[in-house]
Amino acid sequence: MKIELKDNQVFFENHGLKKEIHPFWLRERVNGNEFIDKKTQQRLFDPTQIQEDIKINNLSLSSDHLEVSFNDGTSAKLLIQNILKEFSNINEIKEINKVEWDSSLKNLNYFEFRENFFEEEVMYKALTSFYKYGFVIFKKVPIEKNFIVNFANSIGSIRRTNFGEFFNVKSKPNPNDLAYTSLALAPHTDNPYRNPVPCIQMLHCIENEVSGGLSTLVDGYTVTEKLKKEFLDYYNILCEIKVRFQFVDQSIILEDWAEMIKLDENKNFKQVRFSPRLDFVPLVDKEKLELYYLARKKISELYNSDKYKVEFKLFPGDLLMMDNYRLLHGRTSYNSNEGKRFLQGCYIDYDSTEGRLKHLKRKLSL
Ligand SMILES: [Fe+2]
Repeated sequence: MKIELKDNQVFFENHGLKKEIHPFWLRERVNGNEFIDKKTQQRLFDPTQIQEDIKINNLSLSSDHLEVSFNDGTSAKLLIQNILKEFSNINEIKEINKVEWDSSLKNLNYFEFRENFFEEEVMYKALTSFYKYGFVIFKKVPIEKNFIVNFANSIGSIRRTNFGEFFNVKSKPNPNDLAYTSLALAPHTDNPYRNPVPCIQMLHCIENEVSGGLSTLVDGYTVTEKLKKEFLDYYNILCEIKVRFQFVDQSIILEDWAEMIKLDENKNFKQVRFSPRLDFVPLVDKEKLELYYLARKKISELYNSDKYKVEFKLFPGDLLMMDNYRLLHGRTSYNSNEGKRFLQGCYIDYDSTEGRLKHLKRKLSL
């Protein structure tokens, strides 16, 4: 990638492809003290008020800077590196490659809690691991009720849901969700009926005296890639049909229509939703439904297969942080007569973890 000049025009060249950079694009990036507030990096001018026929009067290029003056009397000295960065669409998170994993995964991404570690390199490593594997487990988190609120807000900010700012996972009478019983929970994603679905779930173990109640995780990304390789028709139909996910209780009805496998604009994995107690496929053609039902059965088989599932016990002081767009989670059943099992959970958004990761990278020059 490089920048070239010709007749008061600026070109961006990448792999033999040459494109002219619009003069207005450069004009919007004027960066003198009178144009940019250095602390916030926010513009002190409104680019919609700039005259439309912006032209370049003078140009000069050094090894690290591009200097431009425009026909409205302004000028800019831009770092080449910053211009190239904008063109290469560099995104710290997308650069972290997802690692496919299954039940053979040995290292469960343990990180030890320390006071103020949210500002330290270990948090950067934990977040990087989170984006690679879709989960991390923090050990030795203070065993205090509601501590999860402090923890979550130290990484991002809590995303409140219909279950409140945070929720208590223990069996209780008249539950409005199977999570609040001692029954086994098959692998599922949370809140598939929300728009948007809460991104990251945290579960903090306060008490766990029972022998069952093991936590389970499945990598939806690994399973999806397997389906794509071996059952392309199933993969395609699950990427195509929008299913109605629904949650009903006494005070609210929540619904969202979405594909069970959602792809991004480049047809790459973006999100899975799976909660077979809450999904309602629309009445599409019988042939399509035929295929859809086979596909749902197959993906359910894979999600529930021991081949893809890791199973582990959460001990008091453990805090599991997992990607609800990528992983499925569940638990084995337990006998509440054996003792107490008490977890507290909450959700945070992606942009808060992304923001912290970028902040730590900048701050620690990583
Ligand atoms: Fe859940």
